[in-house]
Amino acid sequence: MNAPRRIILDTDPGIDDALAILLALASPEVELLGLSIVHGNCTLAEAVANGLAVLELGGGQHIPLFAGCDRPLLRPLTTAHDTHGQRGLGYAQLPPARLQPAREHAVDFIIRTALAAPGEITLVAVGPLTNVALALRKEPRLAGALREIVMMGSALRADGNVTPRAEFNVYADPHAAHIVFSSGVPLVIMPWDITRLVRLHESEVDRLAQPGKPIGRFIADATRFYIEFHRRYFGYDGCAINDPAALALVFLPDLATYTDVYVAVETCSSLTMGFTVADFMLSGGRQPNARAVVEFDTPRFLSLFVERMRTLEERLYP
Ligand code: RIB
Ligand code: CA
Repeated sequence: MNAPRRIILDTDPGIDDALAILLALASPEVELLGLSIVHGNCTLAEAVANGLAVLELGGGQHIPLFAGCDRPLLRPLTTAHDTHGQRGLGYAQLPPARLQPAREHAVDFIIRTALAAPGEITLVAVGPLTNVALALRKEPRLAGALREIVMMGSALRADGNVTPRAEFNVYADPHAAHIVFSSGVPLVIMPWDITRLVRLHESEVDRLAQPGKPIGRFIADATRFYIEFHRRYFGYDGCAINDPAALALVFLPDLATYTDVYVAVETCSSLTMGFTVADFMLSGGRQPNARAVVEFDTPRFLSLFVERMRTLEERLYP
């Protein structure tokens, strides 16, 4: 096996974020260097508490967690409690963590870690991009130091999930997304176009939720709320597990096919705020600023995800 991919996960846990944290902890191909927490699905304070609790649940007591920005750069705070529940983890009730967040700000952690290992660190960004944007602005060398950013966000050729034109992570902080898209950093985009079809179903969840198995219990309680939301809001069967799908690209890139694209984001119009304009034709000889996932092997990913959750459960709670 190749050396593990060294990653930072910038996240707004959130139900699917929590599944991404567990997948990172369950995947030997990944060395999770730390969680940087951002506002989004819930408040920063809720997301910090959730991140710590999920780290403890998943055997990540040794992984540092850094609190980041509690609001967007310019826009007012937008949370998604209707999607992720009152405290951000659906119906799940995890014990308060014994762990504490690190004292360092998430932005400084991202900069320090990337500059200490040029070309080695992948930043997986599965929340609004506020921390990432501020880090790029505070340290101009960061774009050249990161191996790449893999982000979950944008709606490139599909309706959005927050407005007809905007996906949540970009909508929540479109100015941050603009900074990332224009930074020159090597960028992989896992868009809502793809992840809305990556759905975990009750049947798969039931296979995990065995008596006395805390990870399966957590996944069942968290995703029950999330499945109910997807049924009510989208008419979907199952729930879109956007963030673990994006994470998997780091260690299984052949799950997807990619296309170069030039992406820009609307930051002025109240009607189309957060709209990601994707130029796949690279018209006028435009240079691409991202590689977008255009196909994804969902069945293979879902069976990997369920298997990894089962293996993690057996390792931690035999
Ligand atoms: O639009 C889906 C994205 O927004 C996911 O990352 C979800 O967790 C929310 O952050
Ligand atoms: Ca997220």
